Amino acid sequence: MPMPKILVIPGSTRTGSHNVKLAALATKELTLIDADVTRISLADYPLPIYEADLDARMGQPANALGLKQMIMAHHGVFITSPEYSASVTPLLKNAIDWVSRVRERGDPTYAAFKGRVFAIASASPGRAGGLRSLMALRQILELGCGAFVIPEQVAIPNADQAFDDMDNIIDTGTANLFRAELQRLLDMTRLMM
Ligand SMILES: Cc1cc2nc3c(=O)[nH]c(=O)nc-3n(C[C@H](O)[C@H](O)[C@H](O)COP(=O)(O)O)c2cc1C
Repeated sequence: MPMPKILVIPGSTRTGSHNVKLAALATKELTLIDADVTRISLADYPLPIYEADLDARMGQPANALGLKQMIMAHHGVFITSPEYSASVTPLLKNAIDWVSRVRERGDPTYAAFKGRVFAIASASPGRAGGLRSLMALRQILELGCGAFVIPEQVAIPNADQAFDDMDNIIDTGTANLFRAELQRLLDMTRLMM
């Protein structure tokens, strides 16, 4: 059986982002358990704020199509999500909205969200670790886009103090939960391949 291909998407492009750090850790851990991992930055897919008139007038932006194709080239997707105002970042929501709209010939609706496994995690300097962004992201992916999102999820609180010098999670219990989530993503992905 081929190695499961997992795409890692951080929902932040901020310099020093905790969620980029968490995405980098996920990339390392997934590679160690035999996944073929690609990590992207949404900075490489700049998109205007989604607006239906713009969509009709200008057609499908190449970056939206590129991002959709990138997702579809993978069996599983791992997203790290910062919390803004108790929800996801506009960057992440906008990317998902565009990917949900672009269509290629023969595509079912929400093609990029079907037939693959999603997993989500968050990190925040706050005490809840961005948990509310995960609730919002789960709703967007599952109810909005029809994706299968595994129930396991990890929210890293006090993210400014949660990682050591090697960018590993310091708290052993949280680190184990994170590894267990990644293992479940891989296990479920293998079942879907
Ligand atoms: C507009 C805005 C709203 C925010 N709202 C929340 C919030 O509701 N809950 C929270 O825990 N952190 C909130 N934060 C703080 C972010 O979690 C923090 O900036 C975090 O570092 C962003 O993730 P990143 O480090 O991956 O870029 C907010 C930050 C901004 C800029």
